[in-house]
Order: sequence, then C-alpha cells, then structure tokens
Amino acid sequence: MLDLVAQYKTIKDDVLRAMMQVIETQQFIMGQAVPHLEVEVAKVSHAKHGIGCASGTDALLLPLKALNLEPGDEVITTPFTFFATAGTIHNAGGKPVFVDILPETFNIDPAAVKRAITPRTRAIVPVHLYGQMADLMELTAMAAPRGVKVIEDAAQAIGARRKMDGEWRVAGELGWVTGYSFFPSKNLGAWGDGGMMVTSDDAAADRLRKLRLHGGAKQYHHEEVGTNSRLDTLQAAVLLAKLPHLATWSAKRREHAAYYTKAFADVPEVKPPITDPANEHIFHQYTIRAQRRDDLQAHLKKEGIGHAVYYPIPLHRQPCFAHLGYKDGSLPIAERAAHEVLSLPIYPELTRAQLDQVVDAVRGFYR
Ligand SMILES: Cc1ncc(COP(=O)(O)O)c(C=O)c1O
Repeated sequence: MLDLVAQYKTIKDDVLRAMMQVIETQQFIMGQAVPHLEVEVAKVSHAKHGIGCASGTDALLLPLKALNLEPGDEVITTPFTFFATAGTIHNAGGKPVFVDILPETFNIDPAAVKRAITPRTRAIVPVHLYGQMADLMELTAMAAPRGVKVIEDAAQAIGARRKMDGEWRVAGELGWVTGYSFFPSKNLGAWGDGGMMVTSDDAAADRLRKLRLHGGAKQYHHEEVGTNSRLDTLQAAVLLAKLPHLATWSAKRREHAAYYTKAFADVPEVKPPITDPANEHIFHQYTIRAQRRDDLQAHLKKEGIGHAVYYPIPLHRQPCFAHLGYKDGSLPIAERAAHEVLSLPIYPELTRAQLDQVVDAVRGFYR
C-alpha cells in the first residue's frame, strides 16, 4: 500500500544531514528546527502561527481543550474519519455530534451541519478527507455569527486548496485552528509521530503554546494545567528536509490518480473518486467505491496488491460511542461508504509498471 523505503532512498542524504545537525548540537527538545518548521508550515497554510506538537491527535485535542468545554457542550463532526477526530472531542470533555457526509467527496455535509447546530454547539470539526477540502466557506459562514469555532482536521490535507469566491484558499487558512498530522504515512510524514497546529488568532496561538508545555509560557510557572506535547526536534529536522518536496509529491499523486481514473473508466463496477470542481486534491488516498468490495479485497490480497479500507466502521457505530444513541441507518451515506470504499496505492514513487499491476488486478477481478 505504501513503500516508505522508496521515498527514503530519494531523500536519504538530505534528511540524514538535517538529523546530524540536531545530533551535533544535542538540542533534542525544542531545538531550532522546531520554530523553523513552525514558520514554514504556517506559510504553507497562509496562517500567522504554527505550533508544533506531539501528534495529529494532540493537534486536535489541544484546540478543543482551549475551548474549555462544559459537560453537554456539543462539537459537530463527521463519522467517516479516523478515530482521533471524535476521540479528541470526547477527551476534551465535549459531546461528539455526528452528521452525515456528502456521497461524492465523503466530506461532512454542510446542510446536515446546519440542521445539527443547537445552542450547545461550541465547535465544528470538518475533516479534509483523503486530501480534498471540505466546504469551509459554507461551514465558516454558519459558524462565525453563532460564535462557533471551526477546527480543521487537516491531518490528510497539508497543501490542499479550494477555490472560494474565485480565490484559492488553502487548508489551515480559514479555520480557527487547524491540526496536521506528520504520521509517517501522511503526505508530509516524519520518521515517527508528530503534529502541528496553525492559527491566525494570536490569543489562540499563545494558549496552544502553553497547553503543549504544561500550561505555562515560562518554565515552572503554570497558569493552567497543560501537558507535554512537544514536537521532537529530530522530527522537525526530518520534516524541514522533506517539506520542499511536498508540492512535487502531491502533483505526482494527482498524476497517478488521473491514470487510475482513466484506466477504470470502462469498469462500471468501479466508481473512481470524485474531486469537487472547486478543489485541488492532494490524494493522500485514492479511494474508489467498488461493487462486491470485500471480494475485490480478497482478490487483491491474493494477487499481492496493497489496499486498505478507510474506514470500515463509521464512528457513530463504534462501541465506545454507543451511549450517544446512534443506530444502524442513522447516518446512511457514511454507512454505505464504509461498505463500498477501497483505497489503492497512490504514493508518489509508484512506477507506471506498478500502477498497471494494480489496474490489471482490479480489472481482472471484474472481467
Ligand atoms: C483524519 C485524521 N485525523 C487525525 C489523525 C491523527 O493523527 P496522528 O496519528 O498523528 O495522531 C489522523 C491520522 O492518523 C487522521 O487521518
């Protein structure tokens, strides 16, 4: 599904040199590479501040904590995402409110969000799933007048763009705070865990810097209770060395996606992913809807072709959220997607021959 060694071979010298610089200085905690990366990722996001943290999970948890949620406060999100999106809402003391997705993009449906807003709604967490942005213009328009914060889960979407009112806006630009993950498999992946928050709200940035460092801007002074969620300097160095390649890698992913989509055009059982015409997709995943998905999966496994189901169980049907009272059929579009989706290998270093192998295996199954 993903060959990280192939990428390693292309950037090895640069990354090892950057890591050696950290090792030579022995500045492992909050060394120079961390603020440097914070500035660079803020730039990519058209945001004022970047605040490194330990993971993409913490990049959502800390802004949610910064909302000081009270019992019963609601945070609206999508059920069709990685667990962390809703797990962090729960862990910050909020009640996740799941609403359905759009069948084309798999992203949260703004009309469903609008219907779910109540006086207890404190935030909306849209996810830019698989690398294409959710409809942030609609979401921010309904959130702002109500004092509801938008926290973008951009774990899968660093560098993704969307045209709004004729202008390109990037992930991280419009939300109150945006969370990124640098999990190794992400488009910009560290060599371990890592994450970052970006925001253009000065007060939020100060607060998040404190929350990631035990609640104090000054050592041994704690204005509130925070945690240890720093981005490791070695990881920041890896990411800084990789960042200049990000745009090229994402373009390569788009190229692969176009190749697959063309190759599946005459296979009616396969529905290639749909890019909203307003979006520039970064194809963190290339996710098809497939008839007889489970059988196709078994076939690909037999043929030795990488694949994965993101995500087999929508979060409103997870046992840990049973108390929220959702049933089978509560959010039918997400439930249907969970039965139909299949992600195929899309990493930049894939060769034409490898793409053809994937295509042949899929076509072979339906022939
Ligand atoms: C949509 C989404 N949100 C949050 C996360 C959490 O990121 P991390 O694994 O870095 O904690 C991930 C990735 O794993 C993700 O895909």
